[in-house]
Amino acid sequence: MVKSSTGLDDFTIVPENSGSAIPLDFHECGRVRVRPLKEGDREQFLDAARSSASLTAPWSYVMCDDRDFWNILAQVELGLETAFISVDRDDRGIAGKFTVYNVLRGSSQSAMLGYNAFLPYAGTGRTWEALVLIVDTCFAAAPHGLELHRLEINCEPENARSIALARRLGFRHEGRSPRFQLLNGRWRDCEKFALTAEEWVPLRCCRPVTSQDPDPR
Ligand SMILES: CC(C)(COP(=O)(O)OP(=O)(O)OC[C@H]1O[C@@H](n2cnc3c(N)ncnc32)[C@H](O)[C@@H]1OP(=O)(O)O)[C@@H](O)C(=O)NCCC(=O)NCCS
Repeated sequence: MVKSSTGLDDFTIVPENSGSAIPLDFHECGRVRVRPLKEGDREQFLDAARSSASLTAPWSYVMCDDRDFWNILAQVELGLETAFISVDRDDRGIAGKFTVYNVLRGSSQSAMLGYNAFLPYAGTGRTWEALVLIVDTCFAAAPHGLELHRLEINCEPENARSIALARRLGFRHEGRSPRFQLLNGRWRDCEKFALTAEEWVPLRCCRPVTSQDPDPR
């Protein structure tokens, strides 16, 4: 880690391909904090998910009840996925939900990355800020990172916002997968984007939240 020379004294600049170790607890980038989803988030999380249904429904499953929430935590408990939320630093609202799933270990060390922005934060750049931290954590070394080598994002061809986000994070377009995922009863094609650890340039302003910070929720 190198201290910033940009005047952002309380931030840390992560050098290129450092294998930076961002612990899976509280971190922040720009206007959001990112941390794993936890049991106590149930009510606020479901409120955020339900009130964002109009944004989510065309592209992704809308999580709307307790069963959906506990199902995510069960997947996490079984080690099948890692789930994060981003929290706005000012008003503490949940700005987005992120999952790292379909993890392949062995000689692949790859996973898929899924995301949903929540209203009213969608479209303000906060999803990108959170994903900078999450991608960095995915490629970081254990024990704080997930030690992955490759991440994939799969977006429907018409999902322009998601495709723009993948590109803005530096993901490469690899091609189209026909009839890749089942949503609302219909098999959908997806554009596949990928990024390897070597391609990731994590030169961003981000830092861990220390115990001195007020209310690091
Ligand atoms: C796809 C989705 C996650 C994108 O989230 P988002 O919140 O719009 O993403 P961001 O706000 O980080 O970035 C979007 C725009 O905000 C802009 N933006 C606004 N203020 C910004 C700021 N201060 N800093 C950076 N970017 C900013 C970005 O430039 C970007 O614009 P562009 O991509 O149109 O050029 C969201 O639309 C969503 O949840 N959709 C439904 C579910 C879904 O499609 N999930 C993905 C399935 S593959």
